[in-house]
Amino acid sequence: MEPMKAREHFGSRMAVIMAMAGSAIGLGNIWRFPYLVGQNGGAAFILVYLVACVVLALPVFMAEAIIGRRSGCNSFGAMRVLAPGTRWKWLAMVTVITPMLILSYYSVVGGWSVDYFIKSCAFRFTGDTSGIFGRFISSTWEPLITHTVFMAFTAGIVLLGVKKGIEKFTKITMPMLFVLIVAIVIYGLTIPGSWKGVEYMVKPDFSKLDANVVATAMGQAFFSLSLGVGTILTYASYMQKQENIVTSGVCTASFDLLFALLAGFAVMPAVFAAGIAPEEGAGLVFQTLPFIFSHMGWAGAIVSILFFFSILIAALTSSISVLEVGVAYLVEEKGWTRVRSTLVLALATWALGVLCSLSFGPLSGVKLLGLGFFDIFDNLCSNWLMPFGGLLFSLFVGWKMSKADVRDEFTNGGTRNVGLFNAVYFLLRYVAPVGILVVFVTNLLF
Ligand code: PHE
Repeated sequence: MEPMKAREHFGSRMAVIMAMAGSAIGLGNIWRFPYLVGQNGGAAFILVYLVACVVLALPVFMAEAIIGRRSGCNSFGAMRVLAPGTRWKWLAMVTVITPMLILSYYSVVGGWSVDYFIKSCAFRFTGDTSGIFGRFISSTWEPLITHTVFMAFTAGIVLLGVKKGIEKFTKITMPMLFVLIVAIVIYGLTIPGSWKGVEYMVKPDFSKLDANVVATAMGQAFFSLSLGVGTILTYASYMQKQENIVTSGVCTASFDLLFALLAGFAVMPAVFAAGIAPEEGAGLVFQTLPFIFSHMGWAGAIVSILFFFSILIAALTSSISVLEVGVAYLVEEKGWTRVRSTLVLALATWALGVLCSLSFGPLSGVKLLGLGFFDIFDNLCSNWLMPFGGLLFSLFVGWKMSKADVRDEFTNGGTRNVGLFNAVYFLLRYVAPVGILVVFVTNLLF
């Protein structure tokens, strides 16, 4: 059960939690969560999201952590090690393909943050923040260049290796992002008209709920916690044996939720104060927060620079974790060098990202089922492929691995979390897989 070669390990418990939280907290919280809340009816969506996090996502998180640490491998290798001679490892291929699809459009939005960081430095936000965003994404070159810059940064950090690249980055920037968002929330609430946004975030309107909203909430829970693609599995494989899986999971999920809710409370009040439609979609954060900054006078310029800088870092700590999955696979399973794996994957993903980026501009007419490339990739990954990966992991831990092994890993050899084990095992074995399947089927039928 030992990993094939000496692998790097995270140095401490704090480093594990920070790296996992660094992966989880990213554009998913700050860009995706607020716009989905706006598109799916506000508080009712948030409630479903909370349930999905606890009942479906947390058990899958535990499953990935158990598989990763037990095997000490990437997701494909983990199946080979833990279920030798079976077809499980081929199913794990989904966790090699999905991250690449995710990274392609993630990098496009990462590029938007690069652009907004640069615009902030040049003090280029005036009143018409929606117009500025619209002109930007529908142009050809600007978003393509920033997508390229973002992908290059991601590949560069992954090339530096686990310790030097990832650990150092995550420890410094997360607290800064937290402080900035809290400041933006507080300031936003002083702008006239903004309290309607708070109401929208806390007063549920259940008439908006349907099968698609539930599927979207589930997808967001997986997307936001980086689940179903082998990221948590791969990071857990860098975890030392004495670390506590439950503490890491609960801390990561709590931080992640906190950032998402804070981002919601930063964005929604501004949506109402600025008179933007909550349903606006993918551009919401980029249209609303500059509106707040433009109200802050000279301080707005500074907050804006710091904010887009920290979003950028949050996005990078996530994107490197997405790329790391594929790199770990190629290095450990195919024997490629780290440099070759990183460059090949980054290039291929970049090319897919070009399609996503252009789908807001020159390729906006190319649609499948009414969706452009960007939306197809996003929808396919978060609403289908990630929960599907999560389903596989929970089935693997719940039904394929022996209960004794699962318990051993979950309880650190019977020393931790012993009382919790049966409840989590039940969630993993029955509730998560059945829940995911039910959401899939209802979403297909209705
Ligand atoms: N969880 C990340 C975010 O919220 C995105 C991500 C998805 C990262 C999948 C890794 C794997 O931004």
